[in-house]
This record gives sequence, structure tokens and C-alpha cells, in this order.
Amino acid sequence: MTNPTNIPFLDLVTPHQELEAELLAVVRKAFGNAGFIGGPMVEEFERDFAAFCGVRYCVGVNSGTDALRFAFMAAGVRPGDIIVTVPHTFIATTEAISQAGAQIAFVDIHEQTYTMDPEKLREYLERQCDFDSRSGKLVERDSKRRVAGIVPVHLYGQTADMDPILELAATYNLFVIEDACQAHGAEYFSKKDSTWKRAGSMGKAAAFSFYPGKNLGACGEAGAVTTNDPAMSARMKMIRDHGQAKKYYHDIEGYNGRLDSIQAGWLSVKLRHLAKWNEARRSHAHYYHKLLAEAKDAIVVPMEAPWTKGVYHLYVVRVQEREALQATLAEARIGTGIHYPVPLHLQNAYQHLDYKEGDFPVTERVAAEIVSLPMFPHMSNEQQAEVASKVREFVTAKLSTAL
Ligand SMILES: Cc1ncc(COP(=O)(O)O)c(C=O)c1O
Repeated sequence: MTNPTNIPFLDLVTPHQELEAELLAVVRKAFGNAGFIGGPMVEEFERDFAAFCGVRYCVGVNSGTDALRFAFMAAGVRPGDIIVTVPHTFIATTEAISQAGAQIAFVDIHEQTYTMDPEKLREYLERQCDFDSRSGKLVERDSKRRVAGIVPVHLYGQTADMDPILELAATYNLFVIEDACQAHGAEYFSKKDSTWKRAGSMGKAAAFSFYPGKNLGACGEAGAVTTNDPAMSARMKMIRDHGQAKKYYHDIEGYNGRLDSIQAGWLSVKLRHLAKWNEARRSHAHYYHKLLAEAKDAIVVPMEAPWTKGVYHLYVVRVQEREALQATLAEARIGTGIHYPVPLHLQNAYQHLDYKEGDFPVTERVAAEIVSLPMFPHMSNEQQAEVASKVREFVTAKLSTAL
């Protein structure tokens, strides 16, 4: 149990202690047949996770980054093609684009949802690119590169607004790969199809990370790609396994990107608890909203758009002087994080892309003000009340000195 005066940003210990017997049984099973790579435990997890996401196929891989990279490759990206995403995400999204041989183009996020703004995407596709209806190719005017695909990121556990993104993709013949690495179980209401859809079921494929701190986390590195497309699934199975569909017969060069069977077994155990854990996160988020309501002039709590049922991988608020807030909370032994402090277009790693400050003003504003408060399924009401009271004290003190 966590000490109430020491509130971690994330408690990974308690769920593992609770599930210890089941998790150890997985290890014993693997030791019993020495099946450490692939095999029935991986297949069982792939079946169950595909069913959970509402898709036909799931391909287990060794990380979310490789899940993205393999999905881009299987979707047919060619060297030099452009893939469009947002600058407000973890760098793995764009690393995978570069590693697949493609070029990164950014469009800004929506100020309230922190996910890709479909209008900014439309502006980029319509104003900076030309569509050749004969070849069906969209080409970026300045670079003359083909635009191949779009990666909406379901950040913090909330889905991007997928209907307009998918519509633009269909108009311009682009693939959509969802970055669902933070959104296991999140849902999106598609007005177009009049139905709720799970993250991971809407694009040509979707990438999931099972990094330990995710809503569904392994006890090490792991990831998966989901898809409804049998050809994508078959291709990704080859790519993750040295390009072979049959042992030692290599149709292409692939990667060593497989999912370990012990990780798959652990993921199957945890998958049975995911819906309950996600519900707990949602309920904690609503409680935080309530606790922080009286500070609403000084703090912006996450907005859940009517088209999403978020799973609150993170509970991210916006506040002025967030470093001072973090210091105050750290003094009270409350953990916080910033996801993410430097927008990708301003990172040293992307100087060669020639973006500059001011190019994506929403992302830049948001990145300067966000702070992630403690959020995990086993969090207690008392812990939340403690966090909220320290946050309220901080903003009240700031407001009174500003007067
Ligand atoms: C949005 C996003 N994309 C991709 C990744 C990459 O996943 P992994 O760490 O499993 O490679 C992460 C994980 O942190 C993520 O948060």
C-alpha cells in the first residue's frame, strides 16, 4: 500500500502484488515447455486483444515503437514519403516514421482535446499539397514528396476526432495508422456510422504500447498492432520475424520484433482486469474534475469531447507557473509529470526539419502549461483529495498575490 502522505505519480507495485499468483503461474507454464518466443500464449493474447479492440487481427510485437514502424511498412510506405502527425506526442510516433524511411510533417492539435485538429489537417492537405486525380497521389507542393499517410495520436487516453480525419484520408487516398499507445479501451462515437468504436479499430491499423506504465502494461517491453486487414496482418507477422512466413524462407528483410511469450501470458492475465481498471481511471478523473471545479479560473481540467470515452492514461491539467506547482506538490511528496515539455518540432533531433517557434502555436501554448497529476486505478479518494487540496492551495495563493 502507498503511504497517504507519499502519493506516487503512478503505483505499479500494488496491481502486481494483487496478481502475483496468476503472474507467477505464467512463468511456471513457460518454464514447463521452454516456449519463450511465440507459441500458444502469444496466440491466445493476440486473439483476446483483437476481440477487446473489436478487430479481426492482432500482431504482438516487442514495443509500441516497432508496432508503429511495422504498420507503416506494411501499409506500403516508400522511402521519402510523407506521413503526417502532430508535434504534441511522445517522440516514438515520429521516430517510427523516420525509421520506416518516411518524412515527418506536422499539423497542430486542438486546444481542448490535445489531439490532431482535423481542420489543421485539412488546411495542410488542401493548401500545401496537390492532388493528382489521375494517379490518385497527393504531393506536398514544396518538397514534391508523396503524402502517404496520417497518424492521429489518441493522447492521454482520449481518441482523436476520427470521422473527419478518416474522411480526409479517403478523399486523398491516404492510410490512417492510429497511435493508440496511450488509449487501450478508449472509445469514439462515429457520427458517420452512428456507433461507438474502440481505439485501434478505426484506421488501416493501430499501434499499441504495453510499456509497464500504460493502461495495459507488460512487465517489460511489449507492443501490438491491430487491424481488420488480413494482408496487413500477414505482412506484419513477416516483418516482426525476419521477413519469414516459413522458417528460414525469407521473402523480405524483416526485424527481430517478436513478442515474448511470458510477456504475452502476463498481458492476458492483466487484460482480464483492464475494463475494471479503465472504469476506475474514469471515475478518478470525474472525481478530480469535481475536486478542482472551484479552482476553475486558474486551472484547466481535461475536456472529454462528446465523441470520446477516455480511459485517462494521464490526467493532464493546464496551469500558469506549472514548475512552481510541481515544486509545491513535490514538497508535499506528490509525484507529477509533464507530457511533454518540448514540442517535437522544437526538439534538437528535428532541427533538420526546419520548423521554428510559432509554427504550431496551440502545441507550444499547451506544452508550456501542462502538468500530469497522479492517476492510477488503485488511487484512493483520500489521495485524490490530498492532491486536489494542494493544487487548490497553490492556485489560491497565486491568485491572491496577483491581485
Ligand atoms: C503516444 C506514444 N506513441 C508511441 C509510444 C511507443 O511505445 P513503446 O515505448 O512501447 O515503444 C508511446 C510510449 O510511450 C507513446 O506514448
